[in-house]
Amino acid sequence: MTYVTDVMKPKNIKLADETSFAAALKILRDGGLVALPTETVYGLAADASNDAAVAHVYALKGRPAHNPLIAHILRPEEAGALAHVNALAQSLIDAFWPGPLTLVLPRKNTELSQIAGGWLPTIALRCPDTVWREAFIKSGWTSPLFMPSANLSGRISPTTAAHVAADFGDKINLIIDGGACSGGVESTVLQIHEGHAVLLRPGTIAAEDFAPFVTDLRLPDTAPIISAPGMLASHYAPRAKVRLNAIDVREGEVLLGFGAVMGDLNLSSLGDCAEAAHNLYDYLRRLDREGVQTIAVAPIPKHGLGLAINDRLKRAAADR
Ligand code: TXA
Ligand code: MG
Repeated sequence: MTYVTDVMKPKNIKLADETSFAAALKILRDGGLVALPTETVYGLAADASNDAAVAHVYALKGRPAHNPLIAHILRPEEAGALAHVNALAQSLIDAFWPGPLTLVLPRKNTELSQIAGGWLPTIALRCPDTVWREAFIKSGWTSPLFMPSANLSGRISPTTAAHVAADFGDKINLIIDGGACSGGVESTVLQIHEGHAVLLRPGTIAAEDFAPFVTDLRLPDTAPIISAPGMLASHYAPRAKVRLNAIDVREGEVLLGFGAVMGDLNLSSLGDCAEAAHNLYDYLRRLDREGVQTIAVAPIPKHGLGLAINDRLKRAAADR
């Protein structure tokens, strides 16, 4: 969504620049929350060592307390202070950070707020590739940020500042507008073990891209021990019903096309999964705003980025 005039733009949205980054840091330092753009989706950031700020993230999102948060770090080398990094994890860090990869590793004892998953033996870490990272480093900021996607729990992740404002209005002091996120779906989450890794959440980095580093990449074979909403059947859900693998359009439906299945709105007429991922959440939100009853979605390839798109669509279509 774009605003027709600046007058319509919510006052808490500020363009990404040195001034808004400095304002964001002041808010974080004071225990407030800031919405920040990343290369995947927008996040709702809190100082990870501030219990009250982290509790506020859970309250604002309506997020179940048992769903842990990802600790976002500014520099790849900070991982070792928070978690045990084995050789496999280090090779992935070297290859993909900063970037859209989250690693679940055995946690170390730290000063981080225990509210965001402190009862687990593991911690999820990510070093995002973002416009504010360098500025935060230069300012001397050192604390990790707990930062879930900046949407109401169970709903569609935001890929623009306007999406964040649509979910939270002025309940967040500052939303930094870095434009539409390049990736469009969340980071890929890998749990690292000795000699193998488990793909907990397909995401912006395609599973195939790990082949040079992970010879044994597994899918979770049992229900995850932590029942995280991100892994629950119904999640990433628009208000509209969703029908998958549609090649025709039925009464009362709008068809979200892909490639040759043109549809009313096409995720990528070239059949490019990266373009489709970039458009996915914006189009779902757009159709929801229009009050569409059922969104029928064309078949999407089940490899590359298509794996993440199919995963999110399956959850969007699940019974609620
Ligand atoms: O791209 C992203 O990862 C975005 C941007 C903002 O960085 N963040 C994001 O966070 O998607 P969130 O909280 O919406 O999703 C994090 C997922 C959840 O499914 C959570 O259950 C899982 O990561 N997670 C966090 N800590 C975990 C852990 N220790 N073990 C297993 N899963 C974990
Ligand atoms: Mg989320």
